[in-house]
Amino acid sequence: MKIEFNDLSIIHNEIKDEINKSINKTISENKYILSDQVDRFEREFSKYCNAKYAIGCGNGYDALFLAIKSLNLRKNAKVIVPAMTYAATSFAVVNAGLKLELVDVDKNGLIDLEQIEQAIDSSTKLVMPVHLYGQAVNMKKVKKISKKHNLKIIEDCAQAHGGYDNHSNQKLGCLGDIACYSFYPGKNLGAFGDAGAMVTNNKKLYNKLKAFRALGSMQKYHHDNYGVNSRLDELQAAILRIKLKKLDKWNASRKKIGIYYLNNINFNDDFRAINTTKNSVYHIFNLIVPQRKKFVNFMSDQKIPTVMHYPRSINQHKLLKEQFSNKKFINAEEIAAHSVSIPIFPQMKKEEIDYVISKINHFISKN
Ligand SMILES: Cc1ncc(COP(=O)(O)O)c(C=O)c1O
Repeated sequence: MKIEFNDLSIIHNEIKDEINKSINKTISENKYILSDQVDRFEREFSKYCNAKYAIGCGNGYDALFLAIKSLNLRKNAKVIVPAMTYAATSFAVVNAGLKLELVDVDKNGLIDLEQIEQAIDSSTKLVMPVHLYGQAVNMKKVKKISKKHNLKIIEDCAQAHGGYDNHSNQKLGCLGDIACYSFYPGKNLGAFGDAGAMVTNNKKLYNKLKAFRALGSMQKYHHDNYGVNSRLDELQAAILRIKLKKLDKWNASRKKIGIYYLNNINFNDDFRAINTTKNSVYHIFNLIVPQRKKFVNFMSDQKIPTVMHYPRSINQHKLLKEQFSNKKFINAEEIAAHSVSIPIFPQMKKEEIDYVISKINHFISKN
């Protein structure tokens, strides 16, 4: 048996006719940039996130960068970011001219809430929780800390479309000042290329973000600030509208598979799951594996692809190594050194899931 890591072709076959129809309609209407499809997607996606506004943009990184810029923080203000995330979260902070303040994550890879408080000083102005692997950060606690210290919150929701905060039971994406999404093709909600969005309940921020993504212009050829060009295009919006209708069904299927993995892999103290938070939408299912190289080779021999999310914590990137050399990021570095992600996608067949489990259990029993 050969398993795909994330088989998008099955997802797309399921909706091929609807997508073709919608693409053809967009082409025949001769509208490609910031028109009806983007408007509609923005309305539908904000409603889906229980938020007032969504603003489409070019990708998840741009969403983060624009969101940070829209807060108008003073140069070098400190921004708290978890040490285990995709590079985009931290690079957006640096590129926006602010000071990155990394804190460690917990055993599940989510920002360590105790460490947020410890890292705050008078120049800290923003915290960016990342709902990593599809899990939800405890936003109730993040909001409490932020209120106490007068911090802004930008949620990085790039891996958690449709997820819920376990502690408030509220949907992610409307719990801070702005939430940022990536619709990279492999995400729980993915486009046919790059795409992203920002979601907010704040009308002022909404208007700012709408202008920022279009070179600072609300009215064609009238530019009131130095924004960037980062638009969601009509074809991607048309595709996302169709896929959004299926997202809850696909997330439910991911959850079923994730829980089945948790219940059927013979974990022990050393060989454990990372993604164990309740209510995860399982964008990624990953394990801590003591003998990672041996395990990855073994899985590859069984024709089961694996990926590492991520092989370096943010402090381990060459660019940032020195800046953070006096700080410890024990959990982030453990994940970087030992995590392995295994296949998970909504249409995975029962026999494929059982095959993956049987091979992992075989490896565990022999090592
Ligand atoms: C946590 C996180 N943040 C940000 C991004 C950036 O999104 P994009 O690749 O669309 O720029 C990603 C995408 O991989 C991500 O996983």
